[in-house]
Amino acid sequence: MNQDTTAIESHSSESRVFEPSQEFVEKARIRSAEEYQKLYRESLDSPDTFWKRETAELVFRTPFSKLHEWKLPHAKWFIGATLNVSESCLDRHLGTARADKAAIIWESEPGESRTLSYAELHRQVVAMSAALRSLGVGKGDRVAIYMGMVPEVVVGMLACARIGAPHTVVFGGFAAESLRDRINDCGAKVVLTQDGALRRGGLVPLKATVDKATLDTPTVEKVVVFRRLGQAQAPIEMKAGRDVDWNELVDSMKGQAEAGAPEIVDAEHPLFILYTSGSTGKPKGVMHTSAGYLAGAHLTSKYVFDLQDKDVYWCTADVGWVTGHSYIVYGPLSNGATCVLYEGAPNAPDWGRFWQLIEKHKVTVLYTAPTAIRAFIRQGTELPEKYDLSSLRLLGSVGEPINPEASVWYYENIGKKRCPVVDTWWQTETGSILLTTLPGAHRMKPGATGLPFFGVVPEVVDQSGARVAPGGGGFLVLKRPWPSMLRTIWGDDERFQRQYYSEIENVYFTGDGAREDSDGYFHVVGRIDDVLNVAGHRIGTAEIESALVSHPAVAEAAAVGRPDDLKGQALVVFVTLKPPHVASEEMKKKLGEHVAQEIGKFARPDVVRFAESLPKTRSGKIMRRLLKDIASGQKTQGDVSTLEDLGVLAKLASDE
Ligand code: WTA
Repeated sequence: MNQDTTAIESHSSESRVFEPSQEFVEKARIRSAEEYQKLYRESLDSPDTFWKRETAELVFRTPFSKLHEWKLPHAKWFIGATLNVSESCLDRHLGTARADKAAIIWESEPGESRTLSYAELHRQVVAMSAALRSLGVGKGDRVAIYMGMVPEVVVGMLACARIGAPHTVVFGGFAAESLRDRINDCGAKVVLTQDGALRRGGLVPLKATVDKATLDTPTVEKVVVFRRLGQAQAPIEMKAGRDVDWNELVDSMKGQAEAGAPEIVDAEHPLFILYTSGSTGKPKGVMHTSAGYLAGAHLTSKYVFDLQDKDVYWCTADVGWVTGHSYIVYGPLSNGATCVLYEGAPNAPDWGRFWQLIEKHKVTVLYTAPTAIRAFIRQGTELPEKYDLSSLRLLGSVGEPINPEASVWYYENIGKKRCPVVDTWWQTETGSILLTTLPGAHRMKPGATGLPFFGVVPEVVDQSGARVAPGGGGFLVLKRPWPSMLRTIWGDDERFQRQYYSEIENVYFTGDGAREDSDGYFHVVGRIDDVLNVAGHRIGTAEIESALVSHPAVAEAAAVGRPDDLKGQALVVFVTLKPPHVASEEMKKKLGEHVAQEIGKFARPDVVRFAESLPKTRSGKIMRRLLKDIASGQKTQGDVSTLEDLGVLAKLASDE
């Protein structure tokens, strides 16, 4: 990483501070900074005692004999423990008052609702587990899941966990090529999908995309199809001998408790692989294991969202991203929470949809992304004022830095100054929240994420690994292992070591820039590597570039981010064309479409600019910093089809 730390800008000098209300504090699980501090110290000084007590309510069939082992960069947690993650999420609630409690309240985009109790969810997961086994899926086999936001996606994930088959959920916005690459990278044996999903009233043809992706996936033996919409609304073709109807399969397994019994696995057995963007063109299969991941997701859900039995909790993320894994499925369900699962878009039918759902289901805890909040701000306060939001008691934010204005707007207009806002920092790789405030213990400082969660030791360092004093910018690193950390990159342990443990010795390198303030709060500024965060979606610039150069007209491409009021970052690409192709408005559209085809619509560049040549250093490296400056310094001209000469700028920059 040839970045110097001085380039990490600090945020505005926000000075507003909000204390949690007395009403909140009185009922909170952790009620003061002192209480937090005591537990935090214990988590570092007596980790055995801390983790033993804090994981006591999880179901370990055999307790751990050793807390962890840390042979850099490989860590193991809860050594000797055996478990099945689905037992902590489901079985442990049966036979308690939670058995009949709603586990999932599903709301479709058009407004249908379905509620699944813990007992019902358990029944379905047992049947699906038996069903997967009947298809030949066993412990260690990989299952790809390409579905929308329906309860069945949760059933599918938990059934995989139950039979010890690591799942890889692929976000439904990814195109066939991306799905194919992920299936092939992990060698999935079975794909779970659905006929189609609804998004802003339109059809997302998930099954058709699976059909396209699986033209070239030799490991896939079966495709299980959930009929969400039916043949009239979402016509599909079932491939004889390969495709299986979800309901028929599951119905045939109902009551076969034995066949759906949990596979008891080792603490370090892989639970899932989730692909995420890195600084090369190939996405990384981040691998999480069972006990440690569960412990992280469970504990953070409990303390950061202060989950209590009466809560109706809603995380608006898609289950295809890590936030959906940890905070729709494993964390809240292992706590026995009632979770809202919403199929559609925030603006379907209008921008009041979230507020209407909060009123309808009396949501108490809302966890969403800054990009959504900024979109709401643009709509004004009229819509949230139309609905009764008095059930809310806690708000959360995740995915990208939240600017103080958005944070304060959220606090005032949605939380009505009653609800603490927790800004949670973490990554696909960290598995669970690592930096946050605890809502009843800490004051909220808009623009700052907060303090380390239990067991976490973050530090802001310079390039040599030396600590940067509070106030100064640097790289955010983690100095100690934590239970839910990724264990490796699937099939590429060398890349795992290089990516996270080679930049600075003996610590985990997050790839984020940050500073610590005088109260010990961390302010995460954003990525300092070649990863962008566009509307909360993590996108590697190299992925975009390799998609672009796969188009026959493109000679060379560079993708950079530019600050964007709504999306946090917007994606700007600079392209040089192969003659005889010429820059034109039409070519711009074609290239945007090509990226959407190759990766997914969410990765379509916001701006395509054509250049004579790309500015390079003498050694031939693209001058990204310069391109970033160009991308953010100039407004997009109406006429982006003209050929720009960036060579002059490059000369100026290299003369500096
Ligand atoms: C960014 C999402 C600032 C950060 C859970 C990180 C944040 C990347 C925050 C991981 C936050 C996430 N404040 N930045 N509260 N939360 N990020 O893997 O750059 O999709 O490295 O995980 O998002 O994105 P990922």
